[in-house]
Amino acid sequence: MDFALNLLVFLIVVYTTLFSESPVLCATHGQLLTDKKLHPLASDHLVTNLPGQPNVDFHHYAGYITVNEENGRALFYWFYEASTLSDDKPLVLWLNGGPGCSSVGYGATQEIGPFIVNANGHDLSINPYSWNKEANMLFLESPVGVGFSYSNTTSDYDKLGDDFTVHDAYNFLHKWFLKFPSYRMRTLYIAGESYAGKYVPELAGLIQENNKDRSLHIDLMGILLGNPETCDAEDWKGLLDYAWSHAVISDETHNTIRESCDFYSNNTWSNKNCSQAVDEVLKQYNEIDIFSLYTSVCIASSAASKDKLLKLTYRSTSKMMPRIIGGYDPCLDDYAKSYYNKHDVQKALHVSEGHLIKNWSICNMDIFHGWKDSKDSVLPIYKELIAAGLRIWVYSGDTDGRVPVLSTRYSLSTLMLPINRSWRPWYHQKQVAGWIQEYEGLTFATFRGAGHAVPLFKPSESLAFFSAFLNGESLPLQR
Ligand SMILES: *[C@@H]1O[C@H](CO)[C@@H](O)[C@H](O)[C@H]1NC(C)=O
Ligand SMILES: *[C@@H]1O[C@H](CO)[C@@H](O)[C@H](O)[C@H]1NC(C)=O
Ligand SMILES: *[C@@H]1O[C@H](CO)[C@@H](O)[C@H](O)[C@H]1NC(C)=O
Ligand SMILES: *[C@@H]1O[C@H](CO)[C@@H](O)[C@H](O)[C@H]1NC(C)=O
Ligand SMILES: *[C@@H]1O[C@H](CO)[C@@H](O)[C@H](O)[C@H]1NC(C)=O
Repeated sequence: MDFALNLLVFLIVVYTTLFSESPVLCATHGQLLTDKKLHPLASDHLVTNLPGQPNVDFHHYAGYITVNEENGRALFYWFYEASTLSDDKPLVLWLNGGPGCSSVGYGATQEIGPFIVNANGHDLSINPYSWNKEANMLFLESPVGVGFSYSNTTSDYDKLGDDFTVHDAYNFLHKWFLKFPSYRMRTLYIAGESYAGKYVPELAGLIQENNKDRSLHIDLMGILLGNPETCDAEDWKGLLDYAWSHAVISDETHNTIRESCDFYSNNTWSNKNCSQAVDEVLKQYNEIDIFSLYTSVCIASSAASKDKLLKLTYRSTSKMMPRIIGGYDPCLDDYAKSYYNKHDVQKALHVSEGHLIKNWSICNMDIFHGWKDSKDSVLPIYKELIAAGLRIWVYSGDTDGRVPVLSTRYSLSTLMLPINRSWRPWYHQKQVAGWIQEYEGLTFATFRGAGHAVPLFKPSESLAFFSAFLNGESLPLQR
């Protein structure tokens, strides 16, 4: 049986069990919540008639923010206010990776948002572990070309890379605050997973830099990163060592890699022995789910989806390390695709006014393949952010082969941070949820048995972890 489908069915059962008689769902779909404040400047973005939406007790907003008027660039966001005491809770910006993948399709509707797209592709279920229980959650589709975000200047699409993405996201925040002025001075955290491991720290760095100008000041408190791409050389070493230590490749292949791959050189892949051995790793990973080693692959019914599944998307250029796209599950993705391509859904989300239907897809492969610039390592930015006193938590699902726990440990170890509290288990509901090590200035934790998109596999643990992060609290260290 397909894991993703099982998970969805499970979530629906959990929902039905927990919420069917619950009195907390006080609002009717499409009705305004009289006890909740509205944002008058954003009233045109208030979502009121979202097809298939269950009743909820918070307001949510969606629409476009123009980030560049000259070229006509607009980024699409979906914002869910916290379900209780939203005025007292921080703002969290969530970014998915790829690059080229949608935070709405992954983060909001598969992982941590309040609504999960059902398998019929027509309606939504409540996610009982939504992160908007703890924070005001802002999901951004970035850069232009991802999801509903667009540019009216086609040449913009030739420039997309870390730099472009980070600058547009920065402008987005300031423009978004104009519509939601009560969030202008709110504590902000930036969170993301996978390739967002590159542009989340980069965006945090840009905010820190621009904060020197008081008029631009944003109250950034910290960043939260899940299975993040961090340093290409260490990430590659970790990926390949993990494949060997998890019995995906042979000793011989691993020895060849150890002898012939120099991931810190500029021409790693020109060594034939190295590139052939790495090809062998990818060939083995094509047979299973690299994002979740011990779950069944989604055997899609359509031949087209099957094709997508069996080929890890992989790119290679002379200048950059080859990349494997982050987070790709054709079974789950198909539900999202059919939902977001519904005309009435797009209308409710203020994407179109009745005629202009966008062809929404969860990842834009042209963006992935055309990515212009990527920092080899964001560890120097980590150092700056640590020095600036930001809260930095990094977590890792330990059954992910894509950005495995080894990659993250190799990357973090190069920082040589002093250990404040040494490696120990952390607990959730009396079980070991993972292990944690607190460094001075950075906390690292694992999720035992979770794949690449951790909240998809461990929703309850993830929500508890998120709460501890926001409160700067220690995780439960005893049963
Ligand atoms: C893009 O062009 C369309 C059609 O001219 C226009 O309606 C829209 O406002 C433009 N978008 C931006 C962000 O300027
Ligand atoms: C790799 O290339 C960069 C510039 O592209 C250069 O600064 C660096 O020295 C090169 N490193 C090696 C090991 O050749
Ligand atoms: C590649 O591997 C072969 C043995 O399989 C060895 O003879 C050869 O020297 C290696 N080449 C390089 C460049 O390391
Ligand atoms: C939407 O995109 C898919 C590929 O992702 C393509 O096959 C299809 O023809 C497109 N549909 C429209 C209406 O552009
Ligand atoms: C180290 O941990 C102690 C608690 O064990 C805490 O009080 C202290 O603030 C921590 N120091 C740093 C730099 O994180």
